[in-house]
Amino acid sequence: MNRLLIQNISQIATPIGNKAIHGTAMDNIKIYNDAAIYCENDIIRKVGSTAEVLASVGSCSDINVIDASGKCVVPGFTDPHTHFLFGGTRADEFISRLEGVPYLDLLRQGGGIVNTMQKTRAMSCDELYNAGKKTLQNMIKQGFTTIEGKSGYGLDFTTEINMLKTMKKLHDNLPVSLKTTFLGAHAVPPEYKNDSDGFIDFTIKKVLPEVAKENLADFCDIFCEQGVFSIAQSEKLLLAAQKLGLKSKIHADEIVSTGGGGLAAKINATSADHLLAVSASDINKLANSKTIAVLLPLTAFCMRKDFAPARKMIDKNCAIALASDFNPGSCYSYSSALILALAVINMHMTINEALTAITLNAAAAIDEAAICGSIEAGKKADILILEKPDYRFLVYHTGINIIEHVIKDGQLLF
Ligand code: NIG
Ligand code: FE
Repeated sequence: MNRLLIQNISQIATPIGNKAIHGTAMDNIKIYNDAAIYCENDIIRKVGSTAEVLASVGSCSDINVIDASGKCVVPGFTDPHTHFLFGGTRADEFISRLEGVPYLDLLRQGGGIVNTMQKTRAMSCDELYNAGKKTLQNMIKQGFTTIEGKSGYGLDFTTEINMLKTMKKLHDNLPVSLKTTFLGAHAVPPEYKNDSDGFIDFTIKKVLPEVAKENLADFCDIFCEQGVFSIAQSEKLLLAAQKLGLKSKIHADEIVSTGGGGLAAKINATSADHLLAVSASDINKLANSKTIAVLLPLTAFCMRKDFAPARKMIDKNCAIALASDFNPGSCYSYSSALILALAVINMHMTINEALTAITLNAAAAIDEAAICGSIEAGKKADILILEKPDYRFLVYHTGINIIEHVIKDGQLLF
């Protein structure tokens, strides 16, 4: 058995629980001082004061001991919304957007998601795997120990299935837990130009059954947006996917308010994501549902848009999670430090709320809150040791990565 003891920790800061925390209760963080954590294999067994934990562990000779004096410890972060697997880059489009060309215009002109689709379709399985591996290794350095990844740059049978299989392989081979989402309806591919209904039918009849049969995805997602896929198309696809056992996520109300947030609540989606333009009535619907609002501050920042109304949503009792949305178009960033800084400085979340949103609630947004997202006995031993003694430095040291060590499944990665 692999035993790990982290002792003399200056401060542990963690949310508590096995499910998403709604509203201002997100501010309740448990703090331990002069504390210790004992893990067996990949599971946390005991958390408490160093004296307490040492007394319960007794004297074993085969324990790996880490001294964390002067350090703060927080749960491994979860990133519940990424498009981390793709071919090529889109720097030219980034520059065009800075010069004022709207994101949806680039997509309409055959660029955007379809640009990356072409590059991704042209890649071999090995090339795709190696690109994903490199990104995940960098994301682990940002403290992400659990990551969701979406397909959506194939928009055909072969590449969509390949993307999901590649993510399964990355999950098996890298020290990070990956949850997969089928985003076959990310944009309308050239083969179905002007026939988005035909493309939704193709996705439901041809691709989705294979995804379900081979157990390739936990979730189904769709880009529900003006000029992309409508509310009716989104509901049709997501309900078809639910029938095959895939839970729902929605890219909702990112650019135009079309009611994606309300649809998510109505069909009991696990999450509604983006919500920059969410309406007041949809905030109420989300607040009264189990659907988690996944907010993506890096995307708003990179797109020069107003941030999602996080403060209002929390005060109305929504459960908020934070994620990167890392992708080659709207947001080429997975900086955990910048996510936290924007959430607190620009979106007016408290530091405690932001910590809950990037740990326990982020885990809940991919249905993993019973397994990870907090430092408690029985949870996965996914733990971050910070260079600093206080978790508030995660924001105070703005945009700076202060993660010194990452422990995944009870193993010290660095
Ligand atoms: O969440 N909005 C749709 N999908 C991504 C962007 C994907 C891309 O531009 O490649 C997002 O922002
Ligand atoms: Fe996205």
